[in-house]
Amino acid sequence: MKYYIKTFGCQMNFNDSERIRGILQSIGYEPAQSWEEADLILLNTCTIREKPDQKVYSHLGEYKKLKEKNPRALIGVCGCLAQRMGQELVQKAPVVDLMFSSYNMHQLPELIQQAQAGYKAIAILEEPPQDEDQLWEYPTVRDNQFCAYVTVMKGCDKNCTYCVVPKTRGRQRSRALQSVLKEVKELVADGVREIHLLGQNVTAWGQDIGLPFEELLYRVAEVPGVERVRFTTGHPRDLTESIAKAMGEIPQVCPHIHLPVQAGSNRILTLMDRGYTREEYLEKIDMLRYYVKGISFSTDVIVGFPTETEEDFEDTLEVLRRVRFEQVFSFKYSPRPDTPAYSMQGQVPDEVKTSRMAKLLELQKGILAEIALSYQNTEQEVLVESSEGGKLVGRTRGNRWASFPGEEHLLGKLVKVRVVKSRPFNMECELLQVLG
Ligand code: 5AD
Ligand code: SF4
Repeated sequence: MKYYIKTFGCQMNFNDSERIRGILQSIGYEPAQSWEEADLILLNTCTIREKPDQKVYSHLGEYKKLKEKNPRALIGVCGCLAQRMGQELVQKAPVVDLMFSSYNMHQLPELIQQAQAGYKAIAILEEPPQDEDQLWEYPTVRDNQFCAYVTVMKGCDKNCTYCVVPKTRGRQRSRALQSVLKEVKELVADGVREIHLLGQNVTAWGQDIGLPFEELLYRVAEVPGVERVRFTTGHPRDLTESIAKAMGEIPQVCPHIHLPVQAGSNRILTLMDRGYTREEYLEKIDMLRYYVKGISFSTDVIVGFPTETEEDFEDTLEVLRRVRFEQVFSFKYSPRPDTPAYSMQGQVPDEVKTSRMAKLLELQKGILAEIALSYQNTEQEVLVESSEGGKLVGRTRGNRWASFPGEEHLLGKLVKVRVVKSRPFNMECELLQVLG
């Protein structure tokens, strides 16, 4: 029996898919090269904006053809859209045989059995079940041998008024420290050198179990063989001075942080219920720069939140100019059903969002070109992740992509390189030294 998983959305969803692969392989499934040869197709869905919702329906339309050739084939939907839509999704798309929540991925083997017996196997739970932690007992099946995601936190307790996540992923639940450390040790034994801790709001890890997030950083970095630690996504409000200090102090923690600002106008930040002002956000950036030498930043921005004026939008651009992010993920505001912003007065027309977005991208392009130049001729540490067309590819500690000519035996090694040609999204380098 073969499976095929199509994943949409964030890194959390990708990590969930890696875990689902682990579950499926534990019950004898093998990966299919394409959906056409699969006996089970799973769509792991996202619903953060309207576009990913639509993509799921068009994929389901395509995958339906599988059943003509292979009537016993099963099609399943999980992840955030499944959670949000529940039964309604099956009514819209009767081709779906099984569906489960982001809460009960570990029940997949039973659901497959039910579906094979000819029932619609639908288990969308309102709340995480008691045995949710069983999920951690399945290993992940990963594509990247050397860098691994580790989910340490589920759900989110913030109430950003545009965001559907608290509804699809539930309240904040920290994964126990020992469970995280056990997985990290197993990953290292499997050849992993970089650990990327994940959570919708990872900086809040530990709040519900009486531990500070920096404790997790120290403990993960301590595991012998962990060379690099990253984490995503931090909420500015939970980013404390102790976390910044720990980032600067722990050599394994990479000097990079993704810190979503969302907007630069205090009025819009209040409407979003982000819990910080632009000034407070900029103070956090300064604090990070103080404690973490050479830190680089990336961010998320929403353009065209209800009532956003040109002036508000200018405030967002001003934050971009001030911070000089290496990467800005910008999104047109997309109204999500059952969120407070959905019914706010003053929705911004799409043309306005589009033109603001173009302005933002233009500004960021210029900033990035300058940042790229500043890396020219510098020396960088790279963890070699893959090889493509005779070149080795990896990321620097600051999370920039670098490539250089080199032999495959360097895969998985840390190397020192010099940047020969620095482009906005990639740096062509030459190898100086193999670090180990
Ligand atoms: N519309 C547009 N962008 C959104 N995001 C979250 N919800 C919405 C929405 N309704 C963006 C935020 C978040 C990122 C993952 O997606 O910027 O940080
Ligand atoms: Fe999409 Fe958010 Fe769910 Fe991630 S948590 S898959 S971004 S809706």
